[in-house]
Amino acid sequence: MEKQEKWWKSAVVYQIYPRSFQDSNGDGIGDIPGIIKRLDYLADLGIDAIWLSPVCRSPQDDNGYDISDYQDIDPMFGNLDDMEHLISEAKKRNIRILMDLVLNHSSDEHRWFQEAKKSRDNPYHDYYVWRDGEEGVLPNDMGSVFGGTAWEWVPELKQYYFHQFSVKQPDLNWENPAVRREIYDMILWWMEKGAGGFRLDVIDQIAKDPDLKITNNGPRLHEFIQELSRETFQKGSLLTVGEAWGADIQRAKQYSNPDGSEFSMVFQFEHMMLDQEPGKEKWDFCPLPFVKLKQNLAKWQTALHGCGWNSLFWNNHDLPRIVSRWGNDKAYRQESAKMLASVLHGMQGTPFIYQGEELGMTNVRFPEIEQYQDIEIRNMYKERLAKGYSREAVMESIYAKGRDNARTPMQWDGSRNAGFTTGTPWMQVNPNYVEINAEKEMDSPDSIYHYYQKLIRLRKENPIFADGSFELLLEEDAHVFAYVRRNEEEELLVLANFTSETVECGLWKKWADSQVLIHNYAEAADGCGAAADRLRPYEAVMLLRKTGRPDSGR
Ligand code: GLC
Ligand code: CA
Repeated sequence: MEKQEKWWKSAVVYQIYPRSFQDSNGDGIGDIPGIIKRLDYLADLGIDAIWLSPVCRSPQDDNGYDISDYQDIDPMFGNLDDMEHLISEAKKRNIRILMDLVLNHSSDEHRWFQEAKKSRDNPYHDYYVWRDGEEGVLPNDMGSVFGGTAWEWVPELKQYYFHQFSVKQPDLNWENPAVRREIYDMILWWMEKGAGGFRLDVIDQIAKDPDLKITNNGPRLHEFIQELSRETFQKGSLLTVGEAWGADIQRAKQYSNPDGSEFSMVFQFEHMMLDQEPGKEKWDFCPLPFVKLKQNLAKWQTALHGCGWNSLFWNNHDLPRIVSRWGNDKAYRQESAKMLASVLHGMQGTPFIYQGEELGMTNVRFPEIEQYQDIEIRNMYKERLAKGYSREAVMESIYAKGRDNARTPMQWDGSRNAGFTTGTPWMQVNPNYVEINAEKEMDSPDSIYHYYQKLIRLRKENPIFADGSFELLLEEDAHVFAYVRRNEEEELLVLANFTSETVECGLWKKWADSQVLIHNYAEAADGCGAAADRLRPYEAVMLLRKTGRPDSGR
């Protein structure tokens, strides 16, 4: 395995949600051969790695996050040969493939669970988390993330099993060393197949303790992760990223310790929860407190500088589309998508782009609940209606926060089904595909796609993106997101107007002689730009100047 220290510090990752990316055989479901066909598109974009949402064998209760065989590919997506082919074809284009490891739970159809529920003395019984009890008398009141109780009764055993997610996702028992060994061997097997890294699903929930009602951040969490890392990841040169909704700064430093004892980095979600009412559920959304967003991102940037590493993302398969969420997907779709990209890609960390983000794909508003596929949406819909919420209110929550916003098929071109499939797509395509699609984006030099391409290139050409420090400017400004990055030779200013108004900036003028790296508006019009020191709606610009040695060409 080739060793190259921390290659992921200057890398950009692209997330693929396989069932929605590209169908190759007309069954309406994206698949691995489809991804292979689109590798040239991704190489052209300039990305270094693909995070592939789960493609392992699965009954698809939670779209593959319920795995029944970790060492096989679901026939819906192809087979192991296809997977090996994908890894080698990607490698030819200098793209690594990151697999999604779902280790907190398996599917109830996994062989381990099938064995486990045969009897209490079955060797696999202790692979899962059981509690004695009586039918109808739950061990405690813990709930599942997808609604309802976290306990499921198995009459044959007279026991309950614990599931933090759906009934079909029983939690694995990490306290059992045999479970951990099985998992390590499976990971080593994927490393041998050439996986370039891993994304670890809800990894902060593996050390649960249901008796103490502990879900994430359990007492043995870091012990388990360090063992996992030692037994597997540290034998290669991998990008590893843990999904950790419960991460605070302290933990994130541990997770991304530069000594490599845990992961390369984590996904933490503090900034993604700012537009939800404190203490309530994600469906209870509120306007984004913009100043808090800036302060929050700045806090992570400065706290991890030099002693940890950030992942940078606005989107994934669980989150609504950023241009609809915090940009403007109507009059300023182009401008705001580029602005959001600038703010994100200017920071220190490894940027993750979610499929379609580079096209400015938007949220969707399907009129009927039947048009939604996500188990979380469907359960919430039923639950909230039963609790007395109005149908309108529930649909608005889905439109704002539902995971299917991110899961509609990739919009490749203006032909039927957006070029995603020749058959009937598993979920309807967003009707705006005629306007918003990859073909159009690639044809237009000023497109969002080309803007992302340039941002990726800039990160490769300018070390300051990876190594510069971070300072937030105009902290209390209600419109402008401004920060400066510095290393020994240069400084980089990112200026971004987060609103649909023209606003005073107060900084641009001072940087008038610097080099414009990227700008989401064409030439400055009268009354705008550096001279006027004003930013137009969603205007964003990145400026670079030399600071170091006096004769360094200022
Ligand atoms: C993670 C995944 C999500 C899944 C859940 C359970 O949050 O990103 O899609 O439903 O874990 O595996
Ligand atoms: Ca298919």
